[in-house]
Amino acid sequence: MSILEEPAAIDGQKLEQFVFRAVDEVGATLNAALVVMGDKLGLYRALAGAGALTPVELARRTGVSERYVREWLNAQAAGGYVEYDPAGGTYTLPPEQAVALTDEQSPAYLPGFFQIALGSVIDSPRITEAARSGDGVGWHEHSHDVFDGCERFFRPGYNANLVPSWLPALDGVVEKLEAGALVADIGCGHGSSTILMAQAFPKSRFVGTDYHAGSIETARRRAQEAGVADRVSFETAAAAAHPGEGYDLVTMFDCLHDMGDPVGAARQVRQTLAPDGTWLIVEPMAGDRVEDNLNPVGRAYYGFSTFLCTPASLSQEVGLALGAQAGEARIGDVVAAGGFSRFRRAAETPFNLVFEARP
Ligand SMILES: C[S@@+](CC[C@H](N)C(=O)[O-])C[C@H]1O[C@@H](n2cnc3c(N)ncnc32)[C@H](O)[C@@H]1O
Repeated sequence: MSILEEPAAIDGQKLEQFVFRAVDEVGATLNAALVVMGDKLGLYRALAGAGALTPVELARRTGVSERYVREWLNAQAAGGYVEYDPAGGTYTLPPEQAVALTDEQSPAYLPGFFQIALGSVIDSPRITEAARSGDGVGWHEHSHDVFDGCERFFRPGYNANLVPSWLPALDGVVEKLEAGALVADIGCGHGSSTILMAQAFPKSRFVGTDYHAGSIETARRRAQEAGVADRVSFETAAAAAHPGEGYDLVTMFDCLHDMGDPVGAARQVRQTLAPDGTWLIVEPMAGDRVEDNLNPVGRAYYGFSTFLCTPASLSQEVGLALGAQAGEARIGDVVAAGGFSRFRRAAETPFNLVFEARP
């Protein structure tokens, strides 16, 4: 700084506002763990529909130590997750929040979102070290809360959208699935999308693949439990070496940007797809420019991208690292480089971009 320049004036009020906002965010950071705690201990489920409960009553219903329950309830009340009545010393979970915190079938279901966020935070020291060298950290190297949280976060959205709106938005695909089609679901994780499609289209056959063997083991178990193992198989395979041929439909749900070599994966889809086949690509909602994504959804996704998606891609060959906020233009470039001539946005939700690619 030149001696003629004045130091930047500090606006005390703005500084105070920023610090108070940060206090709220520290509370929110801890709340991710509090929500997962309440979910795992059955506290929300016991509160749902139960009316006003004292900590002693909630502790009795859940078998959790009363002193912990009381402190947890106070943290939840301070964050507006439960309502506190000082007159009776009771706590109530409002019905809308009961849906969001306990109903796994609702598209508003939240605990999976918190669980994957908490898993990402738990694994963050590893990412901090990797950032010094630029090394990657593979999806398979994460903690269980990341895998389980991912499944529980995405499944409600797939339940609400995949069969009712995303597949019908594709040209002629539902007719093929109803008649009996061959489908590959690449990067399928625990297989919730694969199983949902298999339940809806019993005449079709589905192959789910993922490079993470642990996820594939879970997916096989899920298919058995859902009673669709006769028409669904799961195999461990990297997308660029995806097996099979003649697929009528290839799907990728929230995984193309996680791959080190998405162009190689696109080429493999092109090679294994039937000549009039369709590639469905679901990616996180994002605009093409950074400034388009500076909103609450973009904030969450840039956060996940820093801890999960970018390191995952950097850990693999090529390491293109598209990031979770790649946006339509960059995904379109990958698709075109893979040898596809048609690409369009077929549908969207506040959280997802849904693309159709054709040869
Ligand atoms: C965010 S998860 C999404 C999982 C699943 N599609 C879902 O919607 O629940 C990303 C998935 O991509 C998989 N993945 C990453 N790189 C891959 C690659 N090169 N080939 C195949 N799968 C890959 C990960 O193992 C992980 O299961």
